[in-house]
Amino acid sequence: SCHLNDQNQTLHLEDCNLQTVAETFGTPAYVYSRAALTDAYQAFADTLAAHPAGQDGLVCFAVKANSNLGVLSLFAQLGSGFDIVSGGELARVLAAGGNPKKVVFSGVGKTEEEMIAALNAGILCFNVESASELDRLSTVAARIGKRAPISLRVNPDVDAKTHPYISTGLKENKFGVPITDALALYRHAASLPAIEVTGIDCHIGSQLLDPSPFVEALERILPLVDTLKAEGIHLHHIDLGGGLGIYYHEGQTEPVVADYLRPLLDRLTGRGLRVLLEPGRRLVGNAGVLLTKVEYLKHGEDKHFAIVDAAMNDLARPALYEAWHDIVPVKPHNGEARTYDIVGPVCETGDFLGQARPMALQQGDLLAVLSAGAYGMVMSSNYNTRPRAAEVLIDGDKTHLVRERETVASLYAGEKTIQF
Ligand code: LLP
Repeated sequence: SCHLNDQNQTLHLEDCNLQTVAETFGTPAYVYSRAALTDAYQAFADTLAAHPAGQDGLVCFAVKANSNLGVLSLFAQLGSGFDIVSGGELARVLAAGGNPKKVVFSGVGKTEEEMIAALNAGILCFNVESASELDRLSTVAARIGKRAPISLRVNPDVDAKTHPYISTGLKENKFGVPITDALALYRHAASLPAIEVTGIDCHIGSQLLDPSPFVEALERILPLVDTLKAEGIHLHHIDLGGGLGIYYHEGQTEPVVADYLRPLLDRLTGRGLRVLLEPGRRLVGNAGVLLTKVEYLKHGEDKHFAIVDAAMNDLARPALYEAWHDIVPVKPHNGEARTYDIVGPVCETGDFLGQARPMALQQGDLLAVLSAGAYGMVMSSNYNTRPRAAEVLIDGDKTHLVRERETVASLYAGEKTIQF
């Protein structure tokens, strides 16, 4: 969604010059595009609306991918629902004006407090991930006089063929209940007065560039839906999770949303099941960049380093998963191109944003780390007592500061010294 402006050859996001954005808000800064966020959401919503099986479908944005209130409020205004994994994410959704009746709650470790908050908010569904969670939810709901709507997250044991850290649908993962145990657990759930069985759920992994495992997962789940129906357990919805990938490399092709959804919706036609989706990365990943400034160039015998003011604490993905993010100059200039490792100031060898990138650089140059809208700011930390970055939402030629840069004082505001 970034482009070089024809007149001044400077990187723009929508109608905003990213050099001006950096001068105004400082660096490092995450910058998001309202238009790109909207387009990504509409690709899902429009495909659902155009298919007979998707008419009353609901996109539940996976908040974990980007939980900024500005971003959440945009999705809420577009009609989106939300997939949350903590009481904290529920609070953010409510603060952003999200509709609790469009919230599903995933995650293997829901606490009693989180269950109570979600029951009181009146969420759409708990995606239950274990037998013990089901029993706790039943007890908690009964105690406060509520009925908890649930789906079981079933683990269809399909290989999502993605990075092992983000593949979640294999039977050796900690997520969900094995599909072979699901029937017994559904029967048990149906017998609990404070539990209302409403759906079925699965999520097989993240950054899938081949959509065929989604179809495979659905085909393993549908026979279970039929068995449940034959036993009088009628489901209202099916939640197909998230996981659709994005391109990180120029020229890499990402699956078209409609091509991913159509085969799934076709298989659901006539079943009377409401379709829920939990996309995260695909809604935000390519709608955001991380702006950073070159502090120093360092030329070694074998290597050239560009030391920038963003680090692994700002964007953990390269250090954590060896993830590849494209990095481009905000104002490209002529000069001798060298092969740089783009590294941060953090005292760890793993602190890099990119390795072996050919470019012509000078001290003070601005760089944009692309595809940084998903699992970027949300995974940031204060390692090395580094205040977290500012976040800016762009709308045409307007900029909104949607999160202020942290101050150092705020980082230790909750701590105290002791006189020994
Ligand atoms: N639903 C559930 C239950 C999930 O666990 C996830 C992501 C999603 C939906 C959204 O998946 P998406 O559409 O974003 O692929 N930090 C990693 C990604 C972890 C994904 C965890 N679960 C990364 O930076 O690549």
